Amino acid sequence: MKTKIISYPNLIEAKSRVKTETEFSAYSPIHLNEMKEIGKGKKYYIHTFGCQANIRDEETMKGMLESSNYVETNKPEDADVIIINTCAVRENAEDKVYGDIGNLKKYRKINKKLVLAICGCMVEQPEILDILMKKFPEVNLYFGTHEIDQLLDLIYEAYNSDIRLIAIKSKQGEVIENKNVKRNNEFKAYVNIIYGCNKFCTYCIVPYTRGKERSRQFNDIMDEVRELKKEGYQEITFLGQNVNAYGKDLNEGHDFADVLEEAAKMGIPRIRFTTSHPWDFSSKMIEIIAKYDNIMKCIHLPVQSGSSEVLRLMGRRYTREHYLSLVKEMRSKIPGLSLSTDIIVGFPNETEEQFNETLTLVDEVKYESAFTFIYSPRRGTPAAKIIDNVSYADKSRRFKELVKHLEANIEADSKRYIGGVYKVLVDGTSKTDKNMLSGYTESNKLVHFKGDESLVGKIVPVKIIESHTYSLIGELVNG
Ligand code: SAH
Ligand code: SF4
Ligand code: F3S
Repeated sequence: MKTKIISYPNLIEAKSRVKTETEFSAYSPIHLNEMKEIGKGKKYYIHTFGCQANIRDEETMKGMLESSNYVETNKPEDADVIIINTCAVRENAEDKVYGDIGNLKKYRKINKKLVLAICGCMVEQPEILDILMKKFPEVNLYFGTHEIDQLLDLIYEAYNSDIRLIAIKSKQGEVIENKNVKRNNEFKAYVNIIYGCNKFCTYCIVPYTRGKERSRQFNDIMDEVRELKKEGYQEITFLGQNVNAYGKDLNEGHDFADVLEEAAKMGIPRIRFTTSHPWDFSSKMIEIIAKYDNIMKCIHLPVQSGSSEVLRLMGRRYTREHYLSLVKEMRSKIPGLSLSTDIIVGFPNETEEQFNETLTLVDEVKYESAFTFIYSPRRGTPAAKIIDNVSYADKSRRFKELVKHLEANIEADSKRYIGGVYKVLVDGTSKTDKNMLSGYTESNKLVHFKGDESLVGKIVPVKIIESHTYSLIGELVNG
């Protein structure tokens, strides 16, 4: 198969952050009408890996494909278009993708007309793209995180030719509004407010795969929130690699606190956001979160390490002391605040003492949940060049020790829920028992309780009778 390169990723370009105004445009596929013909009677299958940014991109791709008459299937063997939406954040994330492509590539032998596409963060790295192309000749379309708006045109071209297409531009990025969307959930929605990342933490690949920080215009965000409210959505989550950088690239005079406040006033029952970097978390944000009942008192505040020296090497731009004083300010102004975090163990040359500082920080902050990772070198990032003197066995032991501390704290803290009545947004029923419901409290605790299926999508009061590390058991309070 011949290869047509429309654009190829380039890490140097991906790294560049020339100060330019964000460009805004409206979605306009060239081949929409032709695609409506091609899509008739055809099916698509999407498999998404990675974070909420990828999940939200999946929803956009679904919306576009359905606007051209494609219908979703969860059986890859029935699909005419298969899209694998990849994540590159750690090696184990990439390994899962290799396995997935390995499983799906056979369908191209069965269906010669199949469009087998790979997109997302992995293909933004030139060396990974080279590996993928050699390993999987069956794949006939690669497109990047900046080309999602061109999905229909790319499929049209891939479908009508015998060539392999590559469209992955490492540009600084723009913002394209009015793209279609088919949301995965009928009462909880993700709302992008800022794309990309300018932080360049030394271990992280995301700034290279997602481009520069680009905020959406305030009114576009509010139009989306208003629409969601009208459609009856109970919960929205504002998305960004760093939501508190919102607005810095625009000259509109709005910051993230303004986004929160304006949305809160619209009356969506639950407002969440992720992720917020400790570095530019403002006192104004803390005040707005405290002021409105419908902004959940629940903050994901990735710390990464408890050692100021490791934080410096990570390029996180805050110290242990700064982080702890921010937590203190939050806790004093937001009663009942629930904190969660991300932690990396085994950053290159992390000493036992530095790791212990992470343990003492975790014991001091008392997170209600945490995502923990063993450091994974990412090619092209500064940290990947450091010669590391810590063995994997040591990293693994530290990881287990950290999880033990976190779990002990979470388990002890969960007990305080027993006897209390909490508002739970019902997510769904148990797979094995239709009368067993599950949902989340405002503080994001998972609760299981008996109740009727008709409560799915509603916020109900639940009395907690039992606590476990990762969930609570409750009883529905009638009336
Ligand atoms: N923008 C978000 C993080 C996105 S990545 C933030 O800054 O909070 C999610 C998490 O993956 C990070 O918080 C970090 O803990 C982890 N992570 C990122 N790169 C990693 C790497 N190379 N090895 C291990 N964990 C990593
Ligand atoms: Fe990665 Fe840091 Fe940006 Fe988060 S803030 S996406 S960890 S570079
Ligand atoms: Fe993964 Fe890309 Fe998200 S690397 S974590 S899917 S931004």
